[in-house]
Amino acid sequence: MSEQETSLPAATGQVLGGREVIVAVSGGIAAYKVAELVSKLVQRGAGVTVVMTESATKFVTPLTFQTLSGRMVPTNTWDLPDSSDVQHIALTEKADLMVVAPATANIIAKAATGICDELVSTMINAAACPVVFCPAMNNLMWTNPITQENVQKLTRLGYRFIGPDDGWLACRNTGPGRMSEAAKILDQVMSMLTNPATMPKTVDRLCLPPNERGGKGL
Ligand SMILES: Cc1cc2nc3c(=O)[nH]c(=O)nc-3n(C[C@H](O)[C@H](O)[C@H](O)COP(=O)(O)O)c2cc1C
Repeated sequence: MSEQETSLPAATGQVLGGREVIVAVSGGIAAYKVAELVSKLVQRGAGVTVVMTESATKFVTPLTFQTLSGRMVPTNTWDLPDSSDVQHIALTEKADLMVVAPATANIIAKAATGICDELVSTMINAAACPVVFCPAMNNLMWTNPITQENVQKLTRLGYRFIGPDDGWLACRNTGPGRMSEAAKILDQVMSMLTNPATMPKTVDRLCLPPNERGGKGL
């Protein structure tokens, strides 16, 4: 492992105090790296709510993220802990940023086509805050033109991508598709949360007239 892979910078005060971040975990092996990301965001003062797809819970338990974030971890659209709130809407309304990590080929495809068939895809679609994807997948899945077209479409719409990087993949291939290390994601997320100029403009699409929201060719 390189030095960058082994250590995240130590917490330097509550620089993210008052910031609310949703970390949405989908079903890839890189889910284990997200535990450290959540912990470091919390140490820097951010309020972090983790949500998971059902597949993600096969890789890391909700209890891990519940313990690190100090909050319940919703995994199901139909859990409504507060009857006055529709959970997927209420959570995104309070958030400054939603980080999807790892982002599977599946969740990217669902986001690009507007599918909302479980909690995470529904929250991405409903998000009133900017959404950032941290893809992680096999190199052939990443280079599949369908995935690439989905990424281009989401990018055009103002969604932001961190990575993926080239390197060793869990399928024992080497190539593009490796989720960026938690340190890189933390760095970019902190920059977005503390410097409005670097914040993705996803939400701008909501302010455009309907015929201009998708851009050319959509
Ligand atoms: C061991 C294992 C590892 C997987 N890793 C990935 C991955 O890194 N990226 C990915 O896109 N899919 C991966 N998959 C496939 C996804 O889990 C599968 O497409 C699933 O339907 C994704 O669901 P979700 O997007 O709702 O979480 C993996 C599956 C298995 C069994």
